[in-house]
Amino acid sequence: MRHSTFAGGKRLRPVLVYEAARLIEQTRTSKGSLPAGVEDLGAAIEMLHTYSLIHDDLPALDNDDLRRGKPTCHVVYGEAIAILAGDALQTLAYQTLASLRCPSPATVEIVRLVAEATGTVEGMIGGQVLDLEGEHSKPTPESVHAIHRAKTGALLRVSIVSGGVYAGATPADAARLTTFGAKAGLAFQIVDDILDVTQTSEQLGKTAGKDLTSDKATWPAAFGIEQSRRDADHLIAEAFAELESYGSAAAGLKAVAQYLVERTH
Ligand code: IPE
Ligand code: IPE
Ligand code: MG
Ligand code: MG
Ligand code: MG
Repeated sequence: MRHSTFAGGKRLRPVLVYEAARLIEQTRTSKGSLPAGVEDLGAAIEMLHTYSLIHDDLPALDNDDLRRGKPTCHVVYGEAIAILAGDALQTLAYQTLASLRCPSPATVEIVRLVAEATGTVEGMIGGQVLDLEGEHSKPTPESVHAIHRAKTGALLRVSIVSGGVYAGATPADAARLTTFGAKAGLAFQIVDDILDVTQTSEQLGKTAGKDLTSDKATWPAAFGIEQSRRDADHLIAEAFAELESYGSAAAGLKAVAQYLVERTH
């Protein structure tokens, strides 16, 4: 668990949690401070993300031996321990969520949202199933869209929405953050696919060119690289429009979303 969690990683999901929480805190109290204890929510989501990476890299899934610049969990500790490390990160995440310091109704709502986003229908695990099934069929715009919004988009989206709920988002705030997060989350995975074909393993800290050799249903495979870049930029512009009513209070969250598409690893 420690090997994979502390191997590095960009910590994008916790940062999205914080910036969404900061935005809602600022609209409610005019203070741009972070609500106390929000780092526990960020940590829980990072644990879920790290569990998904450990399992994604297993021989039965993507069979990767490099992650976050280090040998993958199963390469170092064997498959059985890697499976259990992923399982245990998942249970520790829910233990952490159940102890959040926000009001109980918000805690229950966050647990429900996170479980849905990492679950089967339109969730991370369902998306991973579609991703594996997609190896055997020609990608279509519809199939790649369904894979990406579920396998990756859902967890990024819920990082943003749950950060807002932690800080006391109204239903209208949560709806705006949901649309923003869905668009930014999809853009993120489009860029992940682009980087897989344009960067080196050294730059990425994971095996480059893997999608092509595994015959994955990727955005570039369905739309080409140039269109993929345009789609990612367009999605971020649409996401930004969703936050217009917050004015400059949304600057932090927008800056992180911009990084999602400008990053090089
Ligand atoms: C990689 O996510 C896995 C995907 C969901 C595409 P990140 O690019 O956020 O990985 P880390 O956390 O920085 O290692
Ligand atoms: C991973 O997608 C999504 C999850 C871990 C849920 P990828 O298989 O594209 O991620 P990388 O490229 O190995 O990081
Ligand atoms: Mg995968
Ligand atoms: Mg993978
Ligand atoms: Mg990838």
